[in-house]
Amino acid sequence: AVALAVVVATVAIYTWNTAEIDTTEQVVFDRRLHIPPLATSTVDESGTRVFDLRMQRGTHDLGHGPDTRTWGVNGDYLGPTLRATRGEQVRVNVTNNVGERSTLHWHGMHLPAAMDGGPHQTIESGATWSPHWTIDQPAATLWYHPHLHGSTAEHVYRGLAGMFLLDDPATPALPDDYGIDDIPLIVQDKKFDDDQLDEDGEMFADVGTLGDEILVNGTPRPFLDVHTERVRLRLLNASNARVYNFSFDTGLAFALIGTDGGLLERPMTLRSVQLSPGERAEIVVEVPAGGRTVLRSTPPDLRADFWQTRFSGGDDRFDVLELRAAPTLASTAQVPGQLAAFEDLGEATVTRHLDLTGASTINGRSMDMARVDEVVVAGTTELWQIRNVSGLIHNFHVHDAQFRIVDITGMPPGHPGLAGRKDTVYVPPGATVQLLMRFEDHTDPSVPYMYHCHLLRHEDDGMMGQFVVVGPEEIDQVAGTSDRSA
Ligand code: C2O
Ligand code: CU
Repeated sequence: AVALAVVVATVAIYTWNTAEIDTTEQVVFDRRLHIPPLATSTVDESGTRVFDLRMQRGTHDLGHGPDTRTWGVNGDYLGPTLRATRGEQVRVNVTNNVGERSTLHWHGMHLPAAMDGGPHQTIESGATWSPHWTIDQPAATLWYHPHLHGSTAEHVYRGLAGMFLLDDPATPALPDDYGIDDIPLIVQDKKFDDDQLDEDGEMFADVGTLGDEILVNGTPRPFLDVHTERVRLRLLNASNARVYNFSFDTGLAFALIGTDGGLLERPMTLRSVQLSPGERAEIVVEVPAGGRTVLRSTPPDLRADFWQTRFSGGDDRFDVLELRAAPTLASTAQVPGQLAAFEDLGEATVTRHLDLTGASTINGRSMDMARVDEVVVAGTTELWQIRNVSGLIHNFHVHDAQFRIVDITGMPPGHPGLAGRKDTVYVPPGATVQLLMRFEDHTDPSVPYMYHCHLLRHEDDGMMGQFVVVGPEEIDQVAGTSDRSA
């Protein structure tokens, strides 16, 4: 009986190693997860909350010794977490010390185009740019990163990125003790060439750099000690190109409470959530006292046909982060059944068609800084139909607004992770997504916002377009409007 058990066990292990799971080695989680510090701020005489950010060069230990050359904000790699409350005025003084031109964009933020940090708001080497705006949107997990046209992939890959958390007094009680039970998780894949970041991305030239090592908040092989019954994880895919499908190795279910632009109406119990570059998910996890569980990314779920992907072979698996719960956990309140109320966006009266064509064009055209592609009249509800006719994987991100996904290739979004307020959506080959959105205010005929693929190589190569938001009386002031939309 013992011998039989050994044979059975051996066969089971053999099967487990070769058939079920590919060659991924067991990760030893030996570094404590770094938590990006909260950015300090001061409130000036006018009541404006002021942050100071410095984009700079440095070296950082990303798992290949201390000499890896990196870029960071107020540090060597990544940047501090900004936090502000709905209704507040903020100003961010951004000083560019990286030695070349860059920009800093507030991804997911509703704000005037001139403050957006897109490719037109360049910061010369050594200069300081000081955008200011009023936080005018619900609680959300946003982020910031450079957006210099042609160099975004490089600048982000080297380490310029961070989180921007928005609070809202109307939010029900949720874990929000930053770094204790409210944890930012900036997930990135990297490729190394000896002890330096490998930037050539040759391996997967059509999507840009894909790494074979995962960093969370810049920490390789990270673990997180959990001391509370529930912990809120704010997942951000800040990778250049990789799509993740997160779950726990123990099969642990979790509550999805928020997507890109804020909280859902109600929490949803899930076992996995997929994020393409730029997307966020907020989840609340209960790790049993004394237990351990590994946040893992597995290949996307191929059962739902809109997830069909030829992306990166489809069989990559990454162990991302180990959660280690203490033997006794501080009690925390249950996740409320009601989280947020969505505004009614109304019926669309304008439809726009944007085809993702090739690896570097939208509607067959490459980004032109001098061309306005679309003119949006403020206060109009619009349906944007995005078709991926390229045979390559893409996603789609729009600045300034949060949209609602109406359907994906004719089906209502099958995955709850696609519910709620979104600014970025995965658009696999052959898919058509329809997005409902509304641009309310901040009209300016002279400064465009961007829409683009958030696979950064594609964006840099020209898969980006520009739109302006204008008042009805400002339409004829728009310069450089393309023939197609005129
Ligand atoms: Cu996260 Cu236009 O960018
Ligand atoms: Cu793309």
